[in-house]
Amino acid sequence: MTEKDFISKPYSKTLVSGSFTWSSPSNIALVKYWGKKEYQIPENPSVSFTLDYCKTTTTLSFSEKDENEEFSFDVFLDGEQKDDFKPKIEMFFKRIEGYLPFLKAYHFKIETSNSFPHSSGIASSASGMSALALCLMSIEKQLSNDVSDAHFNQKASFLSRLGSGSACRSIDGDLIVWGTHQEIVGSSDLYGIKYLHDVHENFKNYQDTILLVDKGEKQVSSTVGHDLMHNHPYATRRFEQAHENMSKLISIFKTGNLDGFIKIVESEALTLHSMMMTSMPYFILMKPNTLEIINSIWAYRTKTNSKICFTLDAGANVHVLYPENEKETVMEFIKKELITYCQNGHYISDQIGFGAQLIL
Ligand code: DP6
Repeated sequence: MTEKDFISKPYSKTLVSGSFTWSSPSNIALVKYWGKKEYQIPENPSVSFTLDYCKTTTTLSFSEKDENEEFSFDVFLDGEQKDDFKPKIEMFFKRIEGYLPFLKAYHFKIETSNSFPHSSGIASSASGMSALALCLMSIEKQLSNDVSDAHFNQKASFLSRLGSGSACRSIDGDLIVWGTHQEIVGSSDLYGIKYLHDVHENFKNYQDTILLVDKGEKQVSSTVGHDLMHNHPYATRRFEQAHENMSKLISIFKTGNLDGFIKIVESEALTLHSMMMTSMPYFILMKPNTLEIINSIWAYRTKTNSKICFTLDAGANVHVLYPENEKETVMEFIKKELITYCQNGHYISDQIGFGAQLIL
């Protein structure tokens, strides 16, 4: 598939107005996407668990307008107009205009809400952009006669990527790969695909408890962070390492080797943060409590032989990952020893989910 395959064929139907609602999840990367080329092309492949609870629900209402050179839309978060969201969506519309020729033919009302608190430090760009892309695809499906389910999902992922890279991993499936990898047939830089190799049942219903260490705005936006990988002294080696880690994960997923899984996942998180510490300008995204949590997880693992581990996004919050069969014991440990490091004691219990849903 190339970009050209996502250019719409002439539509066979017309639509005056309507609305669609999609609920789309966030995801947590195991091998991280960090560094991109022009047009949101990742420098390396990444793989993520889709989350189940952390979701954005978006209703997109549309009504015909005079077609001119302007995009026309209003955005609401939890019923409140949010003009500060508009520049990001305007940029998204510009990037995808060539693939959705109806964008200037309608006025849109975008009503969105998150299952997690807005000020939780949890990025909503993956769930938000994918929910919007899915709503737009629902319009295209109505206008066109021949959109298969496979094409629908693939194009929704392709469009989501142009809104926010990681959003392309939030469409369909529990384990998603984005970025071309030699050993993963069908993998692409243009969209995310379901990971179809063998996955051991150790990974079924994998748990993710998100510890909210810092609920403030991100210190560095991921767009700025990705840019810092240009001319980064360690970038080339880092991108190679991501390919190697993906290869290792293929056999780990197959055999259910949780010790191997822990090594890759924690190393990926610390590598992402190391990249930020060694760029120019440089940043430390962890907070003292992030380190307290990591050390407590390591001590607990040594003491109990648990398969608990952590991963991080580009911020101070910690995702605590563990197999389903440790759900009760690890939750007890989290409540007893880790919640004290969270802002106002806040955390979110989540687990692997299966992708976005159309809400009727
Ligand atoms: C650290 O997808 O937020 O979460 O493409 O600029 O929108 P943009 O970046 P974004 O980057 C996410 C980076 C990450 C790692 C990951 O999810 O793979």
